[in-house]
Amino acid sequence: MATHGIRDKVAIVGMGCTPFAEHWTKSAEDLLVDANVEALASAGIAQDDVDAYWLGTLASGNSGQLLSKALKLNYKPVTRVENFCATGSEAFRNACYAVASGAVDVAMAIGVEKLKDSGYSGLVSGTFPNDGTIPGLTAPASFGLLAPAYANAYGLDDDDLKDVITRIAWKNHHNGARNPRAQFQKEISLEAIRKSPKVSGMLGVMDCSGVSDGSAAAIVVRAEDAHRYTDKPLYVKALSMVAGPGDGPMDPTFDYTSIREVVECARNAYREAGVDNPRAELALAEVHDCFTPTELVLMEDLGFSERGKGWRDVLDGTFDLDGELPVNPDGGLKSFGHPIGASGLRMLFECWLQLRGEAPPERQIASIASGDRKLGLTHNLGGRPGDCVSFISVVGAEASE
Ligand code: COA
Repeated sequence: MATHGIRDKVAIVGMGCTPFAEHWTKSAEDLLVDANVEALASAGIAQDDVDAYWLGTLASGNSGQLLSKALKLNYKPVTRVENFCATGSEAFRNACYAVASGAVDVAMAIGVEKLKDSGYSGLVSGTFPNDGTIPGLTAPASFGLLAPAYANAYGLDDDDLKDVITRIAWKNHHNGARNPRAQFQKEISLEAIRKSPKVSGMLGVMDCSGVSDGSAAAIVVRAEDAHRYTDKPLYVKALSMVAGPGDGPMDPTFDYTSIREVVECARNAYREAGVDNPRAELALAEVHDCFTPTELVLMEDLGFSERGKGWRDVLDGTFDLDGELPVNPDGGLKSFGHPIGASGLRMLFECWLQLRGEAPPERQIASIASGDRKLGLTHNLGGRPGDCVSFISVVGAEASE
């Protein structure tokens, strides 16, 4: 048995993404309509041209009817999917496989979440049913464990590590300040981030992603049909998904310096995509920066930095907008918040803009503009360190010969 992947078999030909914000005056249905309308327009197609839909939402609806009612679909298949915080990516993965199988010609992946009026906060622990072995920690408490573990493992003191995670938040807000669709569109000084009120352990408010509402959508067709819809399709190179055994919190060897699910997921993604050296080959990476230490550990788990050297790369600006490999050029979860069903597709939307050369000039990545790099990566994580699902896509502006 083996996973073969569907490299260059399907392509994205249209995308839409609402602003991520506190949308007090819009329902989940309204947001779905907005993302859908923009995606259809960018592919130059009508609603009836879409054969099937995959809807990602964690808690804003229970079935495909959320979408079929909102879009007034005419008895079309709509599958609602959910996979923790990787829900939007899961909708995309399934839509791609449906097209690759030949079952449908045109599929839409669309994700949505309305969090603000639900009262959702990262400071409240989830109550998912479990067998009693899962610690009842909040999300900031769970991901916050990565920070002291990393510092201890690589000989940084708490102050040094605080500098590193502070710079990650600073970078992502710097990028988000250049993005009119982001929830938080202003730069935040290193000092303000460092001094932000404590939330958990070393994490302050500014080390956390925010809470927002939003929706994003992608239209997928077979690669050979892509140029009927757009001159600049994005080809899907890899779709990698791993669900871990959830034994981290019980395993004495699990030391919170690495997320195994991500390591396995990345290995598979790079194999599917034919990527040997992600740091040298990718033009951008959109990663799951739910909390600042998560992004630090991801730099090593995704193979962008050597083990124990990620902190140095962060301080050196390797992942800045003008660095060697820009990470979260759109501002990330840090600037967008995390409306769960939409985030994975929002990450793809940045690849869509960047790789087509359509990002605003102040955000357009130089290695793409010069034609040197043509691949983007998205990474979406659901759950907590040691007990999670991980998803990675690699997309590219050119199909292989
Ligand atoms: N980053 C940057 N700015 C933030 C922010 C964040 N994470 N959270 C809030 N703000 C800003 C708001 O814009 C607001 O600014 P303003 O006064 O200029 O309008 C101010 O801080 C207060 O906002 P408020 O909504 O009252 O914040 P809060 O105290 O209710 O929420 C957190 C702060 C950290 C609790 C919340 O953002 C949170 O729960 N984040 C984590 C979400 C999470 O766990 N997701 C799961 C990931 S796995």
